[in-house]
Amino acid sequence: MLAASMDTQGQSQANGGVNRPKQQQQQPSASEPAEMEPASHEETWRGGISEDIERVILSAQQIQRRVAELGQQIAEDYRGRDLLVVGVLCGSFPFIADLVRTMNLPLAIDFMAVSSYGNRTSSSGVVRILKDLNSSIAGRHVLLVEDIVDSGQTLRYLVDNLQTRRPASLEICTLLDKQEARTVDINTLYVGFDCPNEFVVGYGLDYAGSYRNLPYIGVLKPAIYQ
Ligand code: IMP
Ligand code: MG
Repeated sequence: MLAASMDTQGQSQANGGVNRPKQQQQQPSASEPAEMEPASHEETWRGGISEDIERVILSAQQIQRRVAELGQQIAEDYRGRDLLVVGVLCGSFPFIADLVRTMNLPLAIDFMAVSSYGNRTSSSGVVRILKDLNSSIAGRHVLLVEDIVDSGQTLRYLVDNLQTRRPASLEICTLLDKQEARTVDINTLYVGFDCPNEFVVGYGLDYAGSYRNLPYIGVLKPAIYQ
């Protein structure tokens, strides 16, 4: 009791006697010396939605290491060219964000959104553009960034559509490649990892809109989607 009242007193003196709302409490300043290493996610991802994962197939570290390799390769290949990186929403959002931050060259970024599988775990084969590019790609070097190539139907449709707009070049970068599931031919120049023919979530990949925020990639427990 005594300790509690002393704590309260100490705190209210430090705050000038005012109980400030949460959002006004002191934040780290952007001008403080920055640390280059990102904080570990391990604690955050114990329990919670991690409980729905049967097994992790790619750790956050493995992903970050491979993304940096890809980014450096792409930066070398595109140096001196007018590069437009096009992300396919929503699945590519963490990948494209991490990828471009390992590429030290001038580039522009745009996004397209296409319809995916809804709440199912296999392809409908029907692709719809929900959001088109903001900019023209005529005469530009376009790198299309995807989370995963599964049947290949989404990218086949997108590539055919974008080719009609006369880019100087059009290449594909995908984080995951499920080669076994391919039903149409797709030329993927940059691939992060080969992926087993299982439904995976995390690092942008969703099931029914969830799990995109996991920093790693894993296979869902069957009980979640059965
Ligand atoms: P595709 O047209 O069959 O190649 O499928 C491409 C899209 O389906 C990807 O961009 C993903 O959004 C989604 N997709 C395919 N496989 C998976 C998976 O294992 N987990 C989550 N989404 C997937
Ligand atoms: Mg996708």
